[in-house]
Amino acid sequence: MKKKGFSRRRFLNTITTAAITTAVSSPFESSASGVGILNRRHNRLALLGGAPVRPSGPIGPPWPYVDELVVDSVVKTTRSGVWSRIQSRNGTVPTFEESFAKLIGTKYSVGTGSGTQALSTCVEALGIGPGDEVITSPYTDFGTISSILTSRALPVLADLEPDTYQLDPAEVEKRINKNTKAIMPVHIFGVACNMERIMAIAKQYNLKVIEDACQAPLARYQGKGLGTIGDVGCFSFQASKPIACGEGGAVVGNDEQLMDECYTVQNRGANRKGSNATIGPKYRMNEFEGAILMGQFPGIRERFETRNANANYLRSELKGFNALKPQRHYPGTESGAYYHFGMTYDRKEWGVDRSVFLKAVAAEGVSLGSYIPYQLHHEPWVDHILGLKSYKAMYSPSRLKEYRQGMDLPNCDRIIKETMVSFAGSGSLLAGRDEMKNIVDAIMKVYENRDKLKV
Ligand SMILES: Cc1ncc(COP(=O)(O)O)c(C=O)c1O
Repeated sequence: MKKKGFSRRRFLNTITTAAITTAVSSPFESSASGVGILNRRHNRLALLGGAPVRPSGPIGPPWPYVDELVVDSVVKTTRSGVWSRIQSRNGTVPTFEESFAKLIGTKYSVGTGSGTQALSTCVEALGIGPGDEVITSPYTDFGTISSILTSRALPVLADLEPDTYQLDPAEVEKRINKNTKAIMPVHIFGVACNMERIMAIAKQYNLKVIEDACQAPLARYQGKGLGTIGDVGCFSFQASKPIACGEGGAVVGNDEQLMDECYTVQNRGANRKGSNATIGPKYRMNEFEGAILMGQFPGIRERFETRNANANYLRSELKGFNALKPQRHYPGTESGAYYHFGMTYDRKEWGVDRSVFLKAVAAEGVSLGSYIPYQLHHEPWVDHILGLKSYKAMYSPSRLKEYRQGMDLPNCDRIIKETMVSFAGSGSLLAGRDEMKNIVDAIMKVYENRDKLKV
């Protein structure tokens, strides 16, 4: 239970800030009714007719990021006529690969057309295929699972820790069998999962580790960049991501042979020397995607640091507030990419369902969400693969039965249906500190008035 004094202090701050803001900027506020009335209006939830903490609308700059450097870079590529990476060794894609490897802290990087393609490239490059199993998280973009299915391997989903939303290493270990070839941990929201335990398990059972760092560029854990800890790491530059080019991705790693294999796979099976060497789709990043990425390169670190400063501010403001606890970080977490800023909603503390809270806080001008609305482990793909001739041929009936039973993932279900509250960080966490304060104020105002939300 949250300490009463804390709530009171935050609530009083809320009123003060809101009253000042009101006097300066908002239409509700321009009423000449006097401070007493303003305070009373601010006391009242916006959902019930009071004045909101802030006007509705996005917090922070629009995302994806655009400035003149980005635009110039695309124009330059358009005019150059070098539109495919194979036209030049000095094009935007090879240049980005070199710059990105340096930024993340690996020797090599290979660009791809998406994060899903980066993951899929790694699965194929590691020789994982029919009959093999890869353990991963059910709380992710479907691209994670899809990258395993593309090679006709079996994506085995393990349950999560309720307050980190990350793979529970004990659940991972339980699911290892003789067909398991790799673990694909997902750094959800751009914050590290328990890599110390996951790497130890991988070592013990001789498994490969493909880090899904699609949400995690530049984030660090125990002295290392996310994506650089396992055998290979994968990133997404899809439009909503902290580094974005519409659709794009990259694999990073230090093993020259494996990274060459990744190059070959994404180049529809043709190696750097031009020999058609293996099975591979055409997953090349194109030069326009590279141009956007190179155009935004100069500000990447600064934006990352601003997001971290704001996230740390929110974490410290919400410290000790049990009703909505920020994502728990594992020891050794140094920074996050904060694709989302996640918090755990405790219904007992609020006395109302999460959906009621979300409506009330949105009315205060702060739009929070519940991230992924669907449970990937209950989506139609499960029936689809279990019905396929190829999967029936590769896995025994008892394994497929057990596989379906393994889709009972109660912690993941609870996170999705009851406890997750988040907002996208790529743009929002670049806002000024006043906006961060508005987020906290809106939450606290709703908390202070939670009894009025009960019907
Ligand atoms: C954790 C995670 N994995 C994989 C992906 C797939 O990346 P992309 O959308 O670039 O294919 C995403 C993107 O949403 C993601 O967030």
